[in-house]
Amino acid sequence: MKSKKVLSVLMTAVLAVSMLAGCGGGRGTGDAAPTADTAATVETAAAAGAENPAPAQDSSAGGGVVGVALPWLGTQNWAEAEVMFKEQLEAAGYEAIIQAADQKVPQQQQQIESMIENGAKVIVVGPVDGSQLGSVLEKAKDAGVYVIGYDRLLENTTGVDGIVQFGSIQTGELQAQALLQGLKELKGDAPYNIELFGGGPADPNAPNFFTGAMSVLQPLIDDGTLVVVSGQTDFTQCATVDWDNSKAQSRMDALLAGNYSDIEIDGVLSPNDGIARAIITSCENSGQPIPVVSGLDAENESVEWVWSGRQYSTVAKPTNALVAETVSIIDSLLAGNGMPETDVTANNGVIDVPVYELPPVVVTKENAKEVFADDPDRMALLKD
Ligand code: BGC
Repeated sequence: MKSKKVLSVLMTAVLAVSMLAGCGGGRGTGDAAPTADTAATVETAAAAGAENPAPAQDSSAGGGVVGVALPWLGTQNWAEAEVMFKEQLEAAGYEAIIQAADQKVPQQQQQIESMIENGAKVIVVGPVDGSQLGSVLEKAKDAGVYVIGYDRLLENTTGVDGIVQFGSIQTGELQAQALLQGLKELKGDAPYNIELFGGGPADPNAPNFFTGAMSVLQPLIDDGTLVVVSGQTDFTQCATVDWDNSKAQSRMDALLAGNYSDIEIDGVLSPNDGIARAIITSCENSGQPIPVVSGLDAENESVEWVWSGRQYSTVAKPTNALVAETVSIIDSLLAGNGMPETDVTANNGVIDVPVYELPPVVVTKENAKEVFADDPDRMALLKD
C-alpha cells in the first residue's frame, strides 16, 4: 500500500516534469540534459574521503556537479541518504559531492561554500539548523546555483528553489494516532498516563512533528483521557537538543524518578526511533512495564523492536523515494525545464517555497509485512 502511494506521488512528479519539458527557464539555462554515459568516470568527494573536494572536472562533459550537504549521519535515514544520493546521482550522470556536517552549523556553511567553489550547479541541503544558512544560500543563488531543501525546510532565505520532504505535520499526526491506538489496544481503559518528547529544536521538522501530534493529543489531554503526569506539554520543555538519544534517556530517567515512583507510565510520544529506544530502555531500567511508544524512520533496530513488541510503532519515510524525487527535480532543473509544478508551498519567513511532499506511513506489527513488501532488507528483519 505504501509503495503504491509513493509510486503514485513519484509518477505525478514525473508527469509534472514531462509536462513542463520545453517550457525553458531556470537559472542554469542552456545546460545539456544529463546522460548516464559519464557515470562510470565520476567519483564523490565522500567516497574519496576528501575534506575539501577536488575541483570539478569539466562538467560540460556530463550532467554537471551536484552537491549534497547533510546535517549528520547519526540516524539511519541520513546514512541511507549519503549512500543513495551517490548511487542515484551517479546513475543519472552527475558528479556528486556529498558531505555531512556532524550537527555543526559552521562546518555545514563551509561545506556549502566549497560546493559553490567547486562548480556545483545544484546543491541539495538537509540543514543542521534551518535558519542559519541564509547568507551562504544567498551566495549560492548569486552564483546561479539551484538550492533544494532535502527533508527539512530552509528558513529565512530567498536562496531556496524548493523543498522535498515527507509531510512533517502529517508525520506528527500519525505518531499521535499510533500512540492512541496502542494505548487502547494494550493499556486498558482511559485515563492513560503519558509523557511527550520532541526532536532537536534547530531542526524545522521537530516543532512541526510536535504541532501535528498535539493537534491530535491536546483535546484528549483537555478532556482528561490523557494525563501528562509531569505537566510538561510545551515543545521547549519536551525538545531533545541535537536529537541526542542520550539526552532523551536522561530526561526520561528524571521524569520517571520525579513522577512515577508509585504509578505506571502507559505511553510516550517519541519523535523518532533513536529517541524511542532511549525512552524504552529508561523504562526497562527503572522497572516500569514497557509503555506504548511511537517512533519515526523505520530504523532497522526499531523495526525489530516493533516486530518483537518492544516498540509499538514507527513511521516509514523511505529514503530511496525521497532521493529519487530530488534527483527527478535536479533533472528538470538542469534540462532547463525549471521546477516541476506543485500546489503545496511553505512560507519560510521570507518567501513561499514550493514543496514536493511524499506521504509518511505508520508501521505497527500488524501492517509491517505489508509496508515493507518491496523492501527486502527490512522484510528480512521480520522473522517469525
Ligand atoms: C528527520 C528524521 C530524523 C531526525 C534526526 C529529522 O529532520 O526527518 O527522519 O530522525 O531529523 O536525524
